[in-house]
Amino acid sequence: MSLLLVENVTKRFGGLLALNNVTLTVGEGEILGLIGPNGSGKTTLINVISGVYTPEYGRVIFKGTDITKTKSYQRSRLGIARTYQIVRVFPNLTVFENVLIGALNGRNYGKIVMNKAEERTEDIISLVGLSHVKDFPAKMLNVQDRKKVELARALATDPDLLMLDECLAGLTPSEIFEMLSIIRKIRDERGISIIMVEHIMHAVMNVSDRIVVLNEGKKIAEGTPKEISNDQKVAEVYFGDRELALKFVRRTQENA
Ligand SMILES: Nc1ncnc2c1ncn2[C@@H]1O[C@H](COP(=O)(O)OP(=O)(O)OP(=O)(O)O)[C@@H](O)[C@H]1O
Ligand SMILES: [Mg+2]
Repeated sequence: MSLLLVENVTKRFGGLLALNNVTLTVGEGEILGLIGPNGSGKTTLINVISGVYTPEYGRVIFKGTDITKTKSYQRSRLGIARTYQIVRVFPNLTVFENVLIGALNGRNYGKIVMNKAEERTEDIISLVGLSHVKDFPAKMLNVQDRKKVELARALATDPDLLMLDECLAGLTPSEIFEMLSIIRKIRDERGISIIMVEHIMHAVMNVSDRIVVLNEGKKIAEGTPKEISNDQKVAEVYFGDRELALKFVRRTQENA
């Protein structure tokens, strides 16, 4: 059984079909890359899985339970966590306090005593490499460290499924390298399944077990990174042009 099953999900905004009959699964301990051009429905899908939106049609099944109509905060208690495309940290709280909020919520809500939550917070802060700034207000941090705070807060909720919405955007190549190693660690050492929405192709290809491609709300391809980087249809929706597409296929093959 898959950890997550998204089945025939359709989500409309007025006349716009943001998601059109999308089906996908995420396995236990799997890293699923979710890619597609701007406006293809990636964030909407994260929002449907995390409970921000209820789809007009289709179902979301998590650990065998239908959660299509379950409230966001309840999904977080069941073990679903996410980060946002535009980072949301509490600027005047310290790194530690930001992450502690996660540790007191999610799966542990109402069940964890303060010193256990603090222990958990220390552990997660160390996992993402923020120990040296843990007492700084979040507003003093650079972009990468803010993204790490958000990631740490999501992780502190003790999820089985973590969804990352463009957590690499705006980072330098060496910062991307570091984030990828953290993402791998989260899966390898903690066994957490990950959906990673990402535009930085070499990064998502590098870290994902499997890739799903959306275009205009529809799933147009699904496969291993190698299969996707050889997929002419995928390259064409990204570049709209055969020549550019072929260049893309050659480049991703060189980087693989
Ligand atoms: N709350 C909303 N109200 C109306 N339209 C929306 C809303 N949210 C998203 N959309 C529209 O739905 C479509 C899918 O948007 P979505 O944000 O899911 O795309 P995306 O794949 O995450 O794009 P990007 O790569 O630019 O982040 C777009 O056309 C977008 O304008
Ligand atoms: Mg988006």
